Amino acid sequence: MTTAARFAGRTAIVTGGGGGQGREACLLFAAEGASVMVTDIDKAAADATAELITDRGGVAHSLKVDVSSEEDIKTMVSSTIERFGQVDILLNNAGVGFSASSRLTMAGVVDTPTDHWDAILNINLRSVALACKYVLPHMAARRSGTIVNTSSISGLTSVPGADAYTAAKGGIISLTRVMASDWGKHGIRVNCICPGAVDTPMIREALAAGLGELVATRTALGRPGRPEEIAKVAAFLASDDASYVTGAVIPVDGGWTSQ
Ligand SMILES: NC(=O)c1ccc[n+]([C@@H]2O[C@H](COP(=O)([O-])OP(=O)(O)OC[C@H]3O[C@@H](n4cnc5c(N)ncnc54)[C@H](O)[C@@H]3O)[C@@H](O)[C@H]2O)c1
Repeated sequence: MTTAARFAGRTAIVTGGGGGQGREACLLFAAEGASVMVTDIDKAAADATAELITDRGGVAHSLKVDVSSEEDIKTMVSSTIERFGQVDILLNNAGVGFSASSRLTMAGVVDTPTDHWDAILNINLRSVALACKYVLPHMAARRSGTIVNTSSISGLTSVPGADAYTAAKGGIISLTRVMASDWGKHGIRVNCICPGAVDTPMIREALAAGLGELVATRTALGRPGRPEEIAKVAAFLASDDASYVTGAVIPVDGGWTSQ
């Protein structure tokens, strides 16, 4: 591999690595030398990401993981340690939002069915806590590790009419800060990225249906982000280049929240 090997000898777990931003992060981590455990609820998609990595000479393994299942998350961590010996990086990326395929209602508190509220919170927020629950003791025993959580600009501001999603993404920011405080002394850094509108399957329909025009006026840069632009910030935070960065909440939003 030709790029700088910031992750040589390291192992990364990525949730939701089968598509969108997660796939780009897997490809970048691997290009920089990491062995990557690509996990996704869609096993074929995770397989495809792992294949892209191995085709390029990298090291990857794929695993079906539904982040709303504690059993799956436990297995994700133990299988990674079994296969690669360690976990150095955890990227909590999996999430569900606005794509019609999620079949979850994005609405206000009155109109969100309670089971959809639970599902949105479980997939987007509880998953982050559970993945950390199983990976932190391992990282602490080695006195080394970095965790990057994926919130959203909706955690910093709000997306009116998407109350459960907004609450989950806000929760990720708070969880990032408290875990950074709790685990810094154990050699572990915990940070959070807040993407703006990024051109992935999650919002592609919405971009075509009018969000694109809003993004053009609402962001300083006047365009949606590309998934690789989010992956680069996640890689920075996961790398030693960010060795004095923890508890940080970083918008990667083309200036959405600066206006
Ligand atoms: N795209 C955006 O505009 C945007 C903006 C802000 C934040 N985000 C966040 O970024 C993250 C990645 O989003 P994306 O745009 O790449 O979305 P995406 O829909 O393109 O990809 C999400 C991936 O997660 C997987 N996934 C869904 N449910 C899962 C589950 N229960 N368990 C495991 N994997 C699951 C999907 O199969 C898919 O491969 C999410 O947390 C999302 O909330 C996205």
